[in-house]
Amino acid sequence: MKILITGNPEKDLCQPLVQQLEQRGHECMCLSRANGYDFADNPYGVIKRIVDLSTDADIFINLYANYFFNQTVLAHKVYKNWVSKGLNDRWLVNIGSTTDRVRKGKSNLYHYEKLALREFSNGHSIIGVWEEAPRVSHFSVGTMSNRTEQNPGRKTMPLDKAAGYIVWLLEQPKEFHVNELSIDPMQR
Ligand SMILES: NC(=O)c1ccc[n+]([C@@H]2O[C@H](COP(=O)([O-])OP(=O)(O)OC[C@H]3O[C@@H](n4cnc5c(N)ncnc54)[C@H](OP(=O)(O)O)[C@@H]3O)[C@@H](O)[C@H]2O)c1
Repeated sequence: MKILITGNPEKDLCQPLVQQLEQRGHECMCLSRANGYDFADNPYGVIKRIVDLSTDADIFINLYANYFFNQTVLAHKVYKNWVSKGLNDRWLVNIGSTTDRVRKGKSNLYHYEKLALREFSNGHSIIGVWEEAPRVSHFSVGTMSNRTEQNPGRKTMPLDKAAGYIVWLLEQPKEFHVNELSIDPMQR
């Protein structure tokens, strides 16, 4: 499968994810600042370039925690591109965060961005189960090991473990669709 990913294959979650996908024979194309895709610089221009590339991708893993709701905008544009071309065999995997489950008052935009992304995933995964349309899955995770320093004392999920769950999601029998997978590292 050709898998398009927003992330850098040398670091963060993208690194073990690409390693595990390539071990299974998938072809990964990663987009980040390292190869000229900087969302801070003309985000809508970058989104357009990624949408164009998505036409040839079997799977798009919307991984980078884009800002100002751009992760959801990107999901929408890729999905619409596939639908407009009748590419209903495609699969969009949105990477969210379990922070959006917390229902106390929150003022950080990241929380609402991830909540919007989860809603997008939920609505579109229903369509993909019932109609000829691209599949959409949502994977949300708690703090991972690349953010240990910023969260002293918190137990974190190893990056390769999180990557393994995404690979597992993609490897389920075609007759069954994983709408959502939400996993936290135990803190007690
Ligand atoms: N890490 C955690 O603890 C945690 C917890 C919960 C959920 N998540 C979610 O899991 C996903 C992956 O998280 P992650 O920690 O692996 O990394 P991330 O913060 O999403 O970053 C992934 C990659 O994006 C690239 N990037 C950074 N700024 C960019 C920009 N302006 N334009 C384009 N690319 C940019 C970086 O590579 P370059 O330097 O090459 O650009 C980076 O390696 C995210 O959606 C995040 O919200 C993470």
